[in-house]
Amino acid sequence: MSPRPVTTKELAFQEGGDRRQALLALLRELDATGYEFVTATPSTHARVISRPDRHLARSLRDVLGWSLPFTTNIVAAEILHLMDAAGVIEQRSDGLLSSSVRVSSARGTLFLHSAYPTVEQDAVFFGPDSHRFADLIVARSPALAPGARILDYAAGTGVGGITAATSQPQAQLTLADINPKALFLASINAEHAGLQAQTIQATTPADLPDTFDLIVTHPPFMIDTESRAYRDGGDLYGARLSLDWVVAGARKLAPGGRLILHTGVSIVDGQDVLRPHLEQALPGLGCSLWYHELDPDIFGDELDKPAYADVERIAAVGACVTRIDER
Ligand SMILES: C[S@@+](CC[C@H](N)C(=O)[O-])C[C@H]1O[C@@H](n2cnc3c(N)ncnc32)[C@H](O)[C@@H]1O
Repeated sequence: MSPRPVTTKELAFQEGGDRRQALLALLRELDATGYEFVTATPSTHARVISRPDRHLARSLRDVLGWSLPFTTNIVAAEILHLMDAAGVIEQRSDGLLSSSVRVSSARGTLFLHSAYPTVEQDAVFFGPDSHRFADLIVARSPALAPGARILDYAAGTGVGGITAATSQPQAQLTLADINPKALFLASINAEHAGLQAQTIQATTPADLPDTFDLIVTHPPFMIDTESRAYRDGGDLYGARLSLDWVVAGARKLAPGGRLILHTGVSIVDGQDVLRPHLEQALPGLGCSLWYHELDPDIFGDELDKPAYADVERIAAVGACVTRIDER
């Protein structure tokens, strides 16, 4: 389909339009065109778009992946109309347009998330960590009985739960997050992936009424002085939520159930600040622990910040907690 110019007037948000249906249709249309985009870290993204020839979008990937300003002639009419109906086109002060959502690929599926830069408090996160999280889930998930209950706690785009449920027959998927905007996009991403999911707004795994056969979680793990929900991991050099959610999540596991954690952990004086706390807490909860460094050095540029003055590196960590008692 060749792009046609569309005027700003035509782009006005259609009152009464169904944003959810428009976003679902947008994902379907993008799939049909073979659209793919892999989101890089914010620092890589910043480097790439600071190049002199990267200030204006030249392709759909520039619009929906690199979040570059665009003019209407760069986007196919059908996609432009779906973006408009979804209310994701923003008018900039320089007369150009920008998209308030990004669309990224992981494991063959598209995910809606927030545009770059993700500065808002309620930004919906997706990044290279999400890929590592999904790969960990594929590697460490047990085969579950049909109809098993799966929880993605702190779901963001739902990438963890969607990855987990895709390979389990008739799984009942619950996506929980503190951020309603994340739940909205996650439920669309799940439907696009062919899954039905229940969404629950929650502030701790203890809020959830059920027990689960598989819980996957990727908590915020940075020391974030701006306290953004998708980044701020709390004290313990950013590992507090990881610790608290594993302990609360372990209590929500059905017998034989497993919790899979992906997180980042500060290493201080050669010591992992999370592992000893988990080793101490989990036996008393009737659970075993598998713990593994997935990447010894991530987000190295954060170490320049004063809050990281004592930290020698941040490691990406995967953990599996399996309930071994009968309860
Ligand atoms: C690092 S992002 C991970 C998102 C997604 N699981 C992924 O892998 O791409 C952390 C998520 O935790 C959510 N979050 C932060 N605090 C929370 C809380 N107290 N309860 C539930 N979710 C929370 C954020 O809204 C964000 O979606």
